[in-house]
Amino acid sequence: MFTRAEARRFVPRGDEDPQRDPALAWELLYRLEPDLYDRLATAERLHPAVVAWLPREVGTIAEVGAGTGRLTLELIDRAQRIAAVEPALGLRRILRRKLAAADHGNRVTVTQGFFDELPLPDDFADLVLSCSAFTTAPEHGGEAGLTEMERVCKPHGRVAIVWPNHLDWLAARGYEYVSFPGPMSAVFASHRDAVQLAEIFYPEAVREVRRRGRRTVPFDVLGINPPRDLAFKVLAA
Ligand SMILES: C[S@@+](CC[C@H](N)C(=O)[O-])C[C@H]1O[C@@H](n2cnc3c(N)ncnc32)[C@H](O)[C@@H]1O
Repeated sequence: MFTRAEARRFVPRGDEDPQRDPALAWELLYRLEPDLYDRLATAERLHPAVVAWLPREVGTIAEVGAGTGRLTLELIDRAQRIAAVEPALGLRRILRRKLAAADHGNRVTVTQGFFDELPLPDDFADLVLSCSAFTTAPEHGGEAGLTEMERVCKPHGRVAIVWPNHLDWLAARGYEYVSFPGPMSAVFASHRDAVQLAEIFYPEAVREVRRRGRRTVPFDVLGINPPRDLAFKVLAA
């Protein structure tokens, strides 16, 4: 199910085991069950302050690893042009469907691509983003991916990694960290949906999710850090 370019990055040896490699298991999920992934990502909403922090009137935005558009859909009124880059075909299809329903005025283009080989020219965007996608692993960004994000960002432009991991690694590369406080919950489509998704993604939380009987579940209960933070860098002239 991987394209050649995907296989080169995600299964370079050919005998990788998704049971032992959670990052590979996620890549399989995006391709085998894109709608299931979308149900999860839709429930795990970003902290509104993260979205509010992003600049409002921007010429061009590039987003890498856009997925099914958790962040992309928040951006459509902020820029004249948005390039959403996403490798997984099934996720691109869902994103295109959502954009069509959101009436984005043809401002957003969705293209196939990877962190380490962005299909965008130098100095393309005022704001270059990634949400819950960038890691230090080369197949999910790494040094080459960060260099690419900065390459496509204009001088004085901003690169931001939303919901980042590896804060020390990013700080060593000049990224500042912002986190927004307050209680946060995932909001599932229904209590039934919350239980079903917890059974798959948060098995240790299932009993509590079932007991609460609500579609809103605090991230603490799920046992994950909420999407309340970002790391950013303003590029030099
Ligand atoms: C957890 S999902 C996040 C998707 C979306 N940004 C969101 O917040 O819902 C991670 C995303 O990174 C994408 N991804 C994985 N490896 C990538 C790579 N090398 N280059 C670009 N995107 C990648 C996946 O296809 C997936 O869409």
